[in-house]
Amino acid sequence: MANERILVVDDETTIRELICSILTQAGFDSRPVTSGMEALALLHSDDCYSVVLSDLIMAGMDGLSLLARIRQDHPDIPVVMVTAVHDISIALAAIRNGAYDYLLKPFDREQLLAIVHRAMENRRLKLENLAYQTKLESLVAARTELLRRALADLERSYDITLEALGDALDLKDAETEGHSKRVTAFTIAIARAMELPHDHIRVMARGAFLHDIGKMAIPDAILRKPGRLSPEEQEIMRQHAQLGYRILRRIPFLREAADIVYSHQECFDGSGYPRGLKGDQIPLGARIFAIADTFDAITSDRPYRAAQSIPAGRREIERHSGRQFDPEIVQVFLSISQQIWQDLRTEIEVQSSR
Ligand SMILES: [Fe+2]
Repeated sequence: MANERILVVDDETTIRELICSILTQAGFDSRPVTSGMEALALLHSDDCYSVVLSDLIMAGMDGLSLLARIRQDHPDIPVVMVTAVHDISIALAAIRNGAYDYLLKPFDREQLLAIVHRAMENRRLKLENLAYQTKLESLVAARTELLRRALADLERSYDITLEALGDALDLKDAETEGHSKRVTAFTIAIARAMELPHDHIRVMARGAFLHDIGKMAIPDAILRKPGRLSPEEQEIMRQHAQLGYRILRRIPFLREAADIVYSHQECFDGSGYPRGLKGDQIPLGARIFAIADTFDAITSDRPYRAAQSIPAGRREIERHSGRQFDPEIVQVFLSISQQIWQDLRTEIEVQSSR
């Protein structure tokens, strides 16, 4: 308690000395000052005070003005107003303006010490509460950051797993070598040109990468058959969209991507499969993917024909605008420079040969 400093502000010498002597006897370190300005100067140089006891009616700066300044500059220090009975309405105004309490003159020793103790206890609780809150906030922030990092790590390892899955499919279905990676890159390029949010693009990229994952469940005899498929075989082959959807929809972070996989063979005019969806019914990611997929098929070597040029691929996409493809997305696709497609192809080839 000896360290508890109390600032006593009163322009009346007798009252000031009386208060200070009671506080000193009780073991407090009391600092008397004679005006509000002096009190502020002292607080400004060192605000280690547990309580301020201030007269209400003083020459110069009065108690209310001093209170306002202390509330503003040193909000942690409780202020007790010392006042005569006839000032009670001003004392109440002081409480409304943030004074901790008021002490009526004349007062005895016990009353003074009781109010000082209460004010100190109040301040201690407030500071404890504040410290607890600050600690809690930093604890929550730290935990949130840990969680965010763990989730990012998890997502990264998911993506690595996905890549392995896509590679496995590329190996099984030799015709599509590098196809998954290229359509993913092309889908991302179109989605970026459309200025879609990053989160959406990520979902679309996963959907594009895994679009044919259902082919894992198609018998090799059909998947790798060199000639034309019979109508029955074609029917089985077409199930890959739904099979892929069924594989992915149970994986929570791939649920949205699963919708793209389900719809990746749909056409804008409703002539696609498996559900014959039309226009906006087809998820945006699947509409973007459809363009990326066809563009890659045209500009890649196939066992039965050589790759066509990028301008030929662009013309082919334009030709099917409004039928197979969403015309608005076709416009965005056509606005992307030829060089970008060339660079993406080269980049993926380099990556795959590593
Ligand atoms: Fe497909």
